[in-house]
Amino acid sequence: MNVRLGRRTRHYRTVTFEAHKNQVLLIEQRILPHHFQIVATRTYRETARAIADMVVRGAGAIGATAAFGFAQGARAFRGNDLAGFARHLEGVYRELKNARPTAVDPINAMNQVWDCLRAGGGVREQQALAVAGAEAFANEDVAHCNAIGQHGAPLIKEGMKVLTHCNAGWLAFVDIGSATAPLYEAQSQGRTFHVFCDETRPRSQGATLTAWELAQQKISHHVIADNAAGHLMQRGEVDLVIVGSDRTLGRTGEVANKIGTYTKAVLAKRHGIPFYVAIPFSTIDWNLSCGFDIPIEERHENEVLGAWGVTAKGHREYVRTANSTSPARNPGFDVTPPELITGIITPVGIFKPKELWRNRPRLGWKVV
Ligand code: MRU
Repeated sequence: MNVRLGRRTRHYRTVTFEAHKNQVLLIEQRILPHHFQIVATRTYRETARAIADMVVRGAGAIGATAAFGFAQGARAFRGNDLAGFARHLEGVYRELKNARPTAVDPINAMNQVWDCLRAGGGVREQQALAVAGAEAFANEDVAHCNAIGQHGAPLIKEGMKVLTHCNAGWLAFVDIGSATAPLYEAQSQGRTFHVFCDETRPRSQGATLTAWELAQQKISHHVIADNAAGHLMQRGEVDLVIVGSDRTLGRTGEVANKIGTYTKAVLAKRHGIPFYVAIPFSTIDWNLSCGFDIPIEERHENEVLGAWGVTAKGHREYVRTANSTSPARNPGFDVTPPELITGIITPVGIFKPKELWRNRPRLGWKVV
């Protein structure tokens, strides 16, 4: 995406790899929209920590970060012992996979890199192939988001009001985004429309990240409190909902996404508003057959009990808002059942959730 910094505009990817230093470069998302900064992780352990601490977040972005972290870890191995190298890779894989449990993209990304490096004869060759595999995953992520834009753009009609939840934008992927891709494509085709960004408590990715992206793109928008969506729908102020996903079950069409997505889907159904989910292939889990089996991340209670913001002097600070003696629950994701979803926008077209399994050969499913 193009980012305006002062008077300059520059194109950035959310995640890149600097091969000569064996480091992953990430946009520090925790300080956006107040400061724009690129940070480097120098070891795979630092990369896993950046995922866990949400320096980088969003399904596709943590997928690409895990892919590069896996390559980074592979390249840190010294020696020629292939069996020792395989054991080392298992440790790297485990640490990156455990950094965040709900999104399936890191697992799919690292499996793809691992498949790629197996073609190499020795350790050196496999290390080189790991980087090539991670770069291929990142490029595929961009191509998929671009294709989602092409297939989803016809849904965005002139003058529409579109609701989105959390951030399934450029920052949640390597570039472009999933839920935002149809918006950006419709804009480039000359249509004007308005976007409501759910604030998305507790971490406020809608208010901080999606709103910032839309402002950069000059797309008309309002940030709304999470609880305002029902009211706006009831008054006919929302025509369409588009969200992303962290894990979509290919067998059932169930969609895990940021906490609050399910509520919006129920409201959309109540008001007869189309509800779409946009996903690249890397977000599809072809193995699980029940949404209740998706691991739902429970994050620290402080995220619910307070909020981060920037003071008038530009310092990032946490303030406690809740009663000082009360504990909190903080599930990060929920699961929306297929009957509430109008369509799933993929890189090869729009499907009913229950059609994913039948169309699996077109949707990146591999025989294992
Ligand atoms: O906790 P996050 O910020 O990593 O959550 C991911 C999200 O932003 C959303 O769930 C998003 O809609 C899916 S990511 C493409």
